[in-house]
Amino acid sequence: MPADDTKTHWERVYTAKAADQVSWYRPHLEISLSLIERAAGGVSASIIDVGGGESTLVDDLLARGYQNITVLDISQTAIDVTKKRLKEAAERVHWIAADVTTVELAPAAYDVWHDRAVFHFLTSMKKRVAYVNAVARAVKHGGHVIVSTFGPEGPTQCSGLETMRYDADSLHHEFGTRFRLVESSKELHHTPSGTTQQFLYCYWRID
Ligand SMILES: C[S@@+](CC[C@H](N)C(=O)[O-])C[C@H]1O[C@@H](n2cnc3c(N)ncnc32)[C@H](O)[C@@H]1O
Repeated sequence: MPADDTKTHWERVYTAKAADQVSWYRPHLEISLSLIERAAGGVSASIIDVGGGESTLVDDLLARGYQNITVLDISQTAIDVTKKRLKEAAERVHWIAADVTTVELAPAAYDVWHDRAVFHFLTSMKKRVAYVNAVARAVKHGGHVIVSTFGPEGPTQCSGLETMRYDADSLHHEFGTRFRLVESSKELHHTPSGTTQQFLYCYWRID
């Protein structure tokens, strides 16, 4: 899907649905939070949530005292909704409205890269390579990368788009040997409409 179409798609999704109506909604991203807390090592860590959407992860990170948080999303609507929810606290967050596969992030800017449910939408190898290059450039040496996708038994579509499914080996294969796997786990996510979706979490350190 061309970049403009991807943006239009997500703007439509977030214009049509409330934050807690989308299938990926959880009141709190518990596994993400616990992995980020382990990876960050302290509240001054520089953390980027890629494709943060309208999730409450940024609220929970602010509540835990993290001081250097960036939220990137292709949808300006999602960013605006999240900023409005956070009120003045939004000023303590760096916001980037951009496509992760084309954005120029500052080199070695982040200690922790987090993505829940973005990478699995990249069905073209070209975009996956661009994404991995963005991670390798933007994350510091010795930094941490947490990526959550649909698992091997997860859906093949989400929000009207085709999705990829990964196990820890196939996801690791996409990222390459510079990424040292620390841990992987699966989660059965209960959607607001009552169905379940299998997610995979991989946590790597970058050498
Ligand atoms: C399924 S939602 C997940 C949102 C959030 N991470 C969560 O777990 O609640 C996918 C998010 O990725 C964003 N997104 C999709 N493709 C993107 C891209 N190429 N670059 C940046 N953001 C993207 C969408 O706007 C959407 O907010």
